[in-house]
Amino acid sequence: MALSIGPLRADKPDFVGAVEGVDIAAGVSAEDAANIEAAMDHYAVLIFRDQAIDDAQQYAFSEHFGPMEQATGDIHKAAERRLSLKVNDISNLDEKGEVLRREDRRLQFGIGNMLWHSDSSFKPTPAKYSLLSARAIPGKGGATEFADMRAAWDALDPELQAECMDQVCEHSQIYSRGLLGFTEWTADELALNQPVPQRLVRRHAGSGRLSLFLASHAGALRGWPMPEARMFLRDLTEHATRPQFVYAHQWRVGDLVMWDNRAVMHRARRYNFAEVRDMRRTTVADSAPTLEQPL
Ligand code: OGA
Ligand code: MN
Repeated sequence: MALSIGPLRADKPDFVGAVEGVDIAAGVSAEDAANIEAAMDHYAVLIFRDQAIDDAQQYAFSEHFGPMEQATGDIHKAAERRLSLKVNDISNLDEKGEVLRREDRRLQFGIGNMLWHSDSSFKPTPAKYSLLSARAIPGKGGATEFADMRAAWDALDPELQAECMDQVCEHSQIYSRGLLGFTEWTADELALNQPVPQRLVRRHAGSGRLSLFLASHAGALRGWPMPEARMFLRDLTEHATRPQFVYAHQWRVGDLVMWDNRAVMHRARRYNFAEVRDMRRTTVADSAPTLEQPL
């Protein structure tokens, strides 16, 4: 079957595409990968259904889209890791595959994914694409929501756009986890999670569109007093995550969702942590820190 990609919903023709005619397990051609990348430039979120894949197949598919990121954004120690560093373990499972206990700090740290964010914006070079594969899902809840930061930019008042234009944010997981009261960092973790600068507004190379580069990791604006900066960012986030900009993905086992972190924010929704939710994420790195990318 030939590759075909169209809008998932008629009311959001520029956001969320549905992909047919791809078998990720079997491997895709360079031509299909190029067509998928072109569709990503337009939609920013693509849904692939019925992809029964393993980690190696997911990684091989992801590698078509650029250099890969290592899964170094969490607090798992090497011996606590269920998966290799090629794959982000987006689950509530320990290294033996057992559900994490409530008091396990890996579980409490992972709850940070329920805040709106863009992957790896806390790294000097953030993520380009994320590819998330559903291997096991809870009976209820656990959707993933996506907010279109290009549409949010387009809808912003021109005076506010001008005010945002050349701002630089500081991003750190210490800010985002701190919002949830997660403060028990080790000295090593603190050293690894020092804030990094990112543009607040960025231009998408593939589409030419501007977008707001927001995340709960953004906790300061360079040159601004802290309360003013945080209130400004909070206001923008409220604007950018209004329902008209949001798509909620209800998972089925075998779904793979691919998103462009340069153009969307996302968050997980709550579910019963006593049930298994096993999601695997592979991540393609962006080309450079956002301040080195042309606006
Ligand atoms: C991620 C993430 C959300 C979810 O994989 O980067 O934020 O619903 N996932 O698990
Ligand atoms: Mn994420």
